[in-house]
Amino acid sequence: MVESFKALVVEETSDGNYKRSVKQRSVDDLPDHDVLIEVHYSALNYKDALSASGNKGVTQQFPHTPGVDAAGVIAKSDDPRFTAGDKVIVTSFDLGQNTPGGFGQYIRVPGDWIVPLPDGLTLRESMILGTAGFTAAYGVHHIKENGTQPKDGPMLVTGATGGVGSLAVALLSLNNYNVVAATGKMDQKDFLMSLGATEVIKREQVSDTSGKPLLEGRWAGALDTVGGSMLDVAIRQTNHNGTIACCGNILGGELNTSIYPFILRGVSLMGIDSGICLMPMRKTIWNLLATDWKPANLEEICTECSLEELHKEIDKILAGGQVGKILVDLQK
Ligand SMILES: NC(=O)c1ccc[n+]([C@@H]2O[C@H](COP(=O)([O-])OP(=O)(O)OC[C@H]3O[C@@H](n4cnc5c(N)ncnc54)[C@H](OP(=O)(O)O)[C@@H]3O)[C@@H](O)[C@H]2O)c1
Repeated sequence: MVESFKALVVEETSDGNYKRSVKQRSVDDLPDHDVLIEVHYSALNYKDALSASGNKGVTQQFPHTPGVDAAGVIAKSDDPRFTAGDKVIVTSFDLGQNTPGGFGQYIRVPGDWIVPLPDGLTLRESMILGTAGFTAAYGVHHIKENGTQPKDGPMLVTGATGGVGSLAVALLSLNNYNVVAATGKMDQKDFLMSLGATEVIKREQVSDTSGKPLLEGRWAGALDTVGGSMLDVAIRQTNHNGTIACCGNILGGELNTSIYPFILRGVSLMGIDSGICLMPMRKTIWNLLATDWKPANLEEICTECSLEELHKEIDKILAGGQVGKILVDLQK
């Protein structure tokens, strides 16, 4: 049995800053849970970058290894539901927040956090999707369940080149919606069109200075990853009975809106929390991602890096510069 392994470790320095380095860690230092997993792949999410830069809303105790996503092979299990050698996925719950996460070659987690890798996905593909793909799929599931259909009109995706955004574009398109991708990176128009966007617009086109409670209806709904003023405008631009699934707070935690889009247009605003999604729904979403909702262009969405190369990608995602998904190969 392995005794030590490589991990990205974030430490608080005496001057209150945070430094990141790749270090050897002992398996004995992992939390006392039932299942030890050898991690083959992880993925970079905005939340990981917050943890890696000392955001106490995500991670309270340092030193810490971030990584809310991990896919790998069970090394040892005291949980009868799992056997050594099983291929598995762990996303969210407390992984990478206050439990050492997927930016280490081993994790130890409760069996209740584990999803068996569905047939139809490799470990690598499961992490190109990761929490971002899961969240996008969960959002599309909400939109469909709420009755908003492709014939109702275009669907807006905000933060479209990001991890959740790019997979939302791909998944809405796969579900036959016309997708309008709003982005701050118009140089990535071809990328967004290749994912299935029918139109790419500047993010400034989802803004308003009039302050009117209702704006001209443009969308059947939206999958919003940035929140704040863009979400406010998207709500006011949504047509009758439209559905907006929101998951992100890139523009902050505040949402200023009025009651009118909800009581005069019947707009539904649905919050997505991939972290506490219950296991039956979690498995349903992963099974969709492994079958009918598996994007054909997964490799085009991803850029691969090693643990050592992750440092610069963390800075890039914090600056809003991420395009698609960063896949972390833990075996490199
Ligand atoms: N609720 C959940 O379960 C859940 C799960 C996963 C993620 N999230 C949240 O969802 C959000 C996106 O996560 P992610 O991992 O996809 O992050 P990401 O890869 O960094 O993508 C965020 C995207 O937002 C856009 N953006 C950046 N700065 C902006 C600004 N000032 N104004 C407008 N747009 C801006 C950029 O896309 P463009 O350049 O294309 O505009 C950027 O690529 C985060 O807030 C994250 O915490 C929530």
